Amino acid sequence: MNETITLLSNHRSIRKFTDEAVDRTTVEQLVSAGQHAATSSFIQACTVIQVQDQKVRERFYEITNAQQYVREAPVFLVFCADMQRHRLACTMHDAPMMSGFTEQFVTASLDCALFAQNVAIAAESLGLGICYIGALRNDIAAVDALLNLPDLVYPVFGMCIGHPAQDPEVKPRLPLEVVLKQETYTDEHDEQYLQEYDKAVRAYYQNRGGGAKDQSWTEQISAMLIKEARPHMLAYLRSKGFLQK
Ligand SMILES: Cc1cc2nc3c(=O)[nH]c(=O)nc-3n(C[C@H](O)[C@H](O)[C@H](O)COP(=O)(O)O)c2cc1C
Repeated sequence: MNETITLLSNHRSIRKFTDEAVDRTTVEQLVSAGQHAATSSFIQACTVIQVQDQKVRERFYEITNAQQYVREAPVFLVFCADMQRHRLACTMHDAPMMSGFTEQFVTASLDCALFAQNVAIAAESLGLGICYIGALRNDIAAVDALLNLPDLVYPVFGMCIGHPAQDPEVKPRLPLEVVLKQETYTDEHDEQYLQEYDKAVRAYYQNRGGGAKDQSWTEQISAMLIKEARPHMLAYLRSKGFLQK
């Protein structure tokens, strides 16, 4: 273990922040660290929008089903997958851009995830806490309108950043045997490993927050996956010029 691996292994989402502000220079440092993530074919397809306007934050709070930290976190960033400036690059060279490919959607979304994770790690290295906010996609069209996003730009997720006002336990991850395979895919022993893991997750939830939650990982996942997953996403993404072909 070195300092970096220890930092990575100690990640936990922070959902309660102190009132202490995070200054502009720090936010710029974090976003600059994000920019240094690897980027598919050098496309650099992530744009970050910092939202401090309290009225917009209140709307985000509603959209995310009343997640307190969305309105309270000292810093709130929205990570957007952005192919708009690529259109500009093509225009600058009189090159007709072929957009709408699923491959472009995948690479732009991947760029955002890698960028954001660099921001997260950089923040944690400074003693800050973060929480990703995918729930912005509950009403992605409303978020799009609030942020005035053009075609070929969509909000992938948000991120709360601030000084932690809580010290939650690290959430146990799947056994390595389940996620690290050798040479070819096999799930021969996965069920057995998942049963063991279920015990660890149940124990984690029982320790956390006074044991209010009594659920294993497979229970949690199966309860989630019997429901539709934001079915409005496909029509929204197509309306923005993504996923046409
Ligand atoms: C893309 C993404 C979206 C997420 N969206 C939310 C969210 O809307 N609200 C929330 O409280 N946590 C959200 N999370 C945090 C996850 O719930 C959390 O990372 C996961 O349960 C593992 O816990 P840990 O981060 O404490 O290790 C999100 C995480 C990711 C990566």
